[in-house]
Amino acid sequence: MSQTPVTVAGPITIAGLGDLHVADRSVHPYRDLFQEIGERADVLALCGDLTNLGRPHEAEILAEDLRACRIPVVAVLGNHDLESGHGDEVRNILCQAGVTFLDDEAPQIHGVGFAGVKGFAGGFGARMLSPFGEDAIKHFVNEAVAEAFHLENALHTLAQETDRLVVVLHYSPTVDTVAGEPPEIWPFLGSSRLGETIDRFPVKAVFHGHAHHGTFTGRTQSGVPVYNCALPVPKENGRPYALVSV
Ligand SMILES: [Fe+2]
Ligand SMILES: [Fe+2]
Repeated sequence: MSQTPVTVAGPITIAGLGDLHVADRSVHPYRDLFQEIGERADVLALCGDLTNLGRPHEAEILAEDLRACRIPVVAVLGNHDLESGHGDEVRNILCQAGVTFLDDEAPQIHGVGFAGVKGFAGGFGARMLSPFGEDAIKHFVNEAVAEAFHLENALHTLAQETDRLVVVLHYSPTVDTVAGEPPEIWPFLGSSRLGETIDRFPVKAVFHGHAHHGTFTGRTQSGVPVYNCALPVPKENGRPYALVSV
């Protein structure tokens, strides 16, 4: 017998923040910001590129600052976090600081289900790259498909238990929020495959990063609100993070 999804609690406020790019020599770069966020939101969603080059020491600096954040923290990694080949170490350091990585587990927090993956590139809509021709192109497209499958599995599981779902990504699921970047690089900033997956579930909001010069808000094809939380993108509240209630 299938369970009926239920909404458990009232609205919660989620802070979305991406592209921190913590560097080796940073000294408490985000301690004050995390403290502020902890006072204004119920959950912090980190949208990848948490470190600049994926070095363990960069993750240690971030982990130290995260101690100032008194609310649950969920996260996905970004492409920069994988640059040095120490992605697992970066993840472990942040896990020990209390961060939940959404490609490992899909938790419910205050009745809201959180699913997330890094995502991948490939482009948008009718211009999205297809797995045709060279093996290298097929591998590239398969990476995007695998990320979308992973997200679908998490959403499918969560949707049995709650009708309030939130998605956290690094790459964008819609072309809307990469607008502002040079059009030549749009295909490297996200993939509609992520948006198509999201649109099959009762997702209330999507947070992503990666497009530093993109647009703050957009929607998937079916109208799910999408927030580009990359740190340099101007937000409506004048702060470096998005604040969204679901
Ligand atoms: Fe970034
Ligand atoms: Fe990135």
